[in-house]
Amino acid sequence: MKARRLFANQTSSAAPPTQAAPSTQPSTTQPTTQIRNTMTLEPATAVAHFQPSEAVLRVQSTSLRVQQPQSKGKLVSLAMGEPDFDTPAQVRAAAAQALEEGYTHYSPLLGEPVLREELAARISRLLGGVASSGDVLITQGGTAGLSAAILGIVNPGDRVVIPDPTYSLYADLVSMAGGITVPVPLAEDLHWDLEALASALEGAKLFVFCNPSNPTGIVHSRRELEALADMLEGTDTLVISDEAYSDLVYTPEPFTSALEVEGLRGRTIYCQTFSKSYAMTGWRVGYLWGPSEVIASAARVHNTFNGSMNQAVQYAALTALKTCGPDIERMHASYSLRRELMAEGLRRIPGLTVSSPEGAFYLFPKYDADLPAAAMVTHLRNHGVAVRPGSEFGSHGEFHLRLSYAAGTEAITAGVERLAAGLAELR
Ligand SMILES: Cc1ncc(COP(=O)(O)O)c(C=O)c1O
Repeated sequence: MKARRLFANQTSSAAPPTQAAPSTQPSTTQPTTQIRNTMTLEPATAVAHFQPSEAVLRVQSTSLRVQQPQSKGKLVSLAMGEPDFDTPAQVRAAAAQALEEGYTHYSPLLGEPVLREELAARISRLLGGVASSGDVLITQGGTAGLSAAILGIVNPGDRVVIPDPTYSLYADLVSMAGGITVPVPLAEDLHWDLEALASALEGAKLFVFCNPSNPTGIVHSRRELEALADMLEGTDTLVISDEAYSDLVYTPEPFTSALEVEGLRGRTIYCQTFSKSYAMTGWRVGYLWGPSEVIASAARVHNTFNGSMNQAVQYAALTALKTCGPDIERMHASYSLRRELMAEGLRRIPGLTVSSPEGAFYLFPKYDADLPAAAMVTHLRNHGVAVRPGSEFGSHGEFHLRLSYAAGTEAITAGVERLAAGLAELR
């Protein structure tokens, strides 16, 4: 049986803690006292026979999410889904100040009232009516907001409709809840196929989508959202509108939130994050707003899983809301140039059909080589460029690649050249 090192961090020879504390230092730099106290144990029988829970097994057996290997050496990465900008300085300063001022305690379970008030005011502007701060739940990033909403809504056997391809977390959360994911293939132009969507939505508990879309970079228009509202009229189907990229839109017409569409707002759970707009991926802060009953249910899940939110981070988020307008504009202008650069470069590559670069920071070109996307990604890595396989986002993402332009212009230029060389070799 394979022996395992446990309690590497213990500094006394007293009885082992009930939970092994994670090491905070690489083992090569650990003090000798710790090394001397390292124990080697056989795994207990109960652990040797351990099986993950059924919820985890369901996710493991269906998940399309793949951990990309770290981009290292001379590899150019167009794979990342996060801004390459630093969090604006005044936001970092606000967090430091909050810590200095003693915001180091448990926060109220729904979040800091002052932040929830500010968010309610913003949501009210989208609604064209009054949103109560009592229906705002601050979450540990968009991920925990989506988790709380889906686990708070979906029962085993419930049908949950998602676009195909879409952000892969949705299907995993539905699997975890025991629901049935119903993926609806997008139309050729990567917008919704309204007929297919209408038929899939019959009897569905929930429809989850993101707008702008990860991975396609498409922005669903007011017309599409109104068509969705018409399809759902008179039904009990709820909607989660994940608008993580709503500040990153490049279409001539302004972005329409689901909350602005009369037929959707009463059934929509609005999911937001500070990660993308404010370059705050590592801070882990987002929020939900929606019908009171649904938010109360999501809050129960969020509190059970996460407890309360980090206080200082919430004050930093408040500063972001109040002061980052110019920062959002600055980053938007930069993404806009990079988007042009990438789209132009891709349009020159034979055999690529380039998607319409409408929003977020992704392009989702389709290639004509007869090689599955996962194998194509490996082939392209050998040509020095990291991208994501479209199949990671749904089976209809096959033969597509997701390219991120949240990368510097040099990386974009070099990455597109390498992509061209890699594809040329297959023609
Ligand atoms: C569409 C979408 N929603 C939510 C998230 C998760 O955001 P967060 O980093 O705040 O958990 C992501 C992250 O990539 C995303 O692309």
